[in-house]
Amino acid sequence: MKVLVLSKREAVERAALEVVKRIKRKKRSVIGFATGKTMIPLYRELVRLYRAGKVDFSKVVSFNLDEYVGLSSNDKRSFRNYMNRNFFSKVNIKEKNINFLDGGRRNWRSVCRDYEKRIKSSGGIDLQILGIGRNGHIGFNEPGSGEKSRTRKVKLSAMTRTINGVKFREALTMGIGTIMDARGIVLLAFGKEKEEIMKKVLEGRVGRELPASFLRRHKDAIFFIDREAAQK
Ligand code: GLP
Repeated sequence: MKVLVLSKREAVERAALEVVKRIKRKKRSVIGFATGKTMIPLYRELVRLYRAGKVDFSKVVSFNLDEYVGLSSNDKRSFRNYMNRNFFSKVNIKEKNINFLDGGRRNWRSVCRDYEKRIKSSGGIDLQILGIGRNGHIGFNEPGSGEKSRTRKVKLSAMTRTINGVKFREALTMGIGTIMDARGIVLLAFGKEKEEIMKKVLEGRVGRELPASFLRRHKDAIFFIDREAAQK
């Protein structure tokens, strides 16, 4: 695992270049995307690179990490909508290549099973982009999530619901095992609010109480952290 401590601006630029590099490496790359406010400048930078002709998303296949249960894709509060607004509508990714967990469906078991199958049949994720929750969650894998967990329905912690400002109690998320299967991982963490958790993730014990700590066992993970988040 590589940890890069940079200014936020540099971290965003370097992370975006890493995404571009992976896209160029293959004819049809599979990229895992994340949501949250940390990702906004990254998507802005990727859109800028696209407009400058530096990257082409027409053959990229995407899988997003997670979605709230009870929200269909066209709901304004959904992560699907966030992705459309901040990224998909601004680049040339093809609608048919966008994969999303549909939180509006009741048969979540088959939704999750099908998602795992689709990831596999598309050749596996080449690069998974991640943010981190203040309690160490990745995707919506809250503390207690096992290293081998797969895409499933989870309960959100009170902390996550408060910070994210949502009433939804459940979500669908790729599992830790699903994330760890990605060939490469890029994690971004910015700001003072992440300094405590970054210290724990990088220096604490690896285990299910701190889901992001499992990333230390990944062969090709890069953490892009700004100076504030790296303070401790
Ligand atoms: C949400 C998402 C995560 C994200 C995290 C951090 O809970 N499910 O994928 O990494 O929040 O969000 P932020 O970037 O807003 O701090």
